[in-house]
Amino acid sequence: MSPALLPERVALVTGGIGGLGTEICRQLASAGRRVVALDLASREERVAAFHDEVAAFDGAISFAPADVSDFDNCRAVVERIEQEHGSVDIVVNAAGITRDASLRKMTPQQWHELMHVNLDGVFNLCRNVIDGMTARGFGRIVNISSVNGQTGQFGQTNYSAAKAGVHGFTMALARETARKGVTVNTVSPGYCDTPMVAAVSEEIRAQIIAGIPVGRLGSPADIARAVAFLAADEAGYITGANLPVNGGYFMSF
Ligand code: CAA
Repeated sequence: MSPALLPERVALVTGGIGGLGTEICRQLASAGRRVVALDLASREERVAAFHDEVAAFDGAISFAPADVSDFDNCRAVVERIEQEHGSVDIVVNAAGITRDASLRKMTPQQWHELMHVNLDGVFNLCRNVIDGMTARGFGRIVNISSVNGQTGQFGQTNYSAAKAGVHGFTMALARETARKGVTVNTVSPGYCDTPMVAAVSEEIRAQIIAGIPVGRLGSPADIARAVAFLAADEAGYITGANLPVNGGYFMSF
């Protein structure tokens, strides 16, 4: 079906103004979705830049302040968006942070902050959209995990645990909703050209890039294409799957 013939569906993208999130918003809007980027309002400069970066989409992409680590805030945000734009049919959980440190140096705060955003955030948003999706008999949920959830990474016990947890969540929810027209899948990016990866020391980053068979960092567009594919109306027979997009950095069967 051409985008013009598709029902207009509302998509929420958490971390929507971030390194991957912005491009995910653009690709979903290009596929005819009405997209709302959820992110922290406190990122004022980034919010302003985001508005410029999506201006060409003529209002198909908007921004709403949200803190994914706060359940009640997620509930209020979903209610407000549904009143303003209509039912939420697509959710992409892309909000994520790093708090890298080897375990012997990791503080409880670094552990908990990361879990609140990267794992609780997935629960908080999904819990507030799932009843509507199952009642209407349609939904597409795409959770962003990471190659480091599949392999573990030195200095990322918190991040690797949360990202592995994200795919466990995906598989369990996929079973619960499979008969209700709601698919739940994971995309696991490798190392991409984003501020998060730019924050890794140059020496370690060079070692990582040397180990990527494709020979380069991923681009946000590489990841967004996979998300848009799984969020398509036609993708109804793929559920509980993990789609790795990592340039061959980790291969498995
Ligand atoms: N691999 C192997 N050994 C390492 C290492 C690594 N990546 N990092 C440090 N070490 C070694 C050091 O050489 C040193 O060895 P010696 O004791 O023999 O001298 C020892 O471990 C130092 O241990 P420390 O506990 O002091 O570690 P540190 O504070 O120096 O470094 C770190 C910790 C900064 C987290 C560092 O390990 C690191 O940068 N790791 C990579 C983190 C990373 O890849 N993050 C990805 C962020 S992007 C992302 O997450 C997106 C995505 O989804 C892919």
